[in-house]
Amino acid sequence: MKKEITVSYEEYASAQELAPADAALVDLARNVTKDAYAPYSRFRVGAAARLSNGQIVTGTNQENAAYPVGICAERTLLSVAASLFPGVAIDTLAVSYRNEQGTSDRPISPCGICRQSLQEFEQRTARSMRIILTGQSGKVMVLEGSATLLPFAFSSDELK
Ligand code: THU
Repeated sequence: MKKEITVSYEEYASAQELAPADAALVDLARNVTKDAYAPYSRFRVGAAARLSNGQIVTGTNQENAAYPVGICAERTLLSVAASLFPGVAIDTLAVSYRNEQGTSDRPISPCGICRQSLQEFEQRTARSMRIILTGQSGKVMVLEGSATLLPFAFSSDELK
């Protein structure tokens, strides 16, 4: 039997088309790229999230001379959120970047490790999060939950 999974998402020509709260989150994700520590890739990533309690948290990528030690902006943000506001779900997460060696006018999408981390964060807080992807300018993608990014994910259910 052939089965199919379809992915749907919203696309906007620019952040100006978003609702004010989402546009503010995108602004923040774009702005915090200045706080990234990315001397090796020169690819600065910024993430900003609105939690279910209304608090706003941010994260940036933090690289290391021993390259694999570096951490992505998304996972930095998840650690910040879980440490400052334990157990609180993320309502909406925005991710942006600034490529110092190229253009930054289209969305990027979280890496595989971050997708796995996003899934477990949703699971432990029992809520899926909206994910907004964009560059410094240009189109914006809005996804409803991380399952869109990682179907067939491994989870703690498998360990039982
Ligand atoms: N990076 C992120 O922080 N998030 C992503 O979604 C993609 C990649 C970082 C990792 C590394 O510091 C740099 O971007 C280049 O890969």
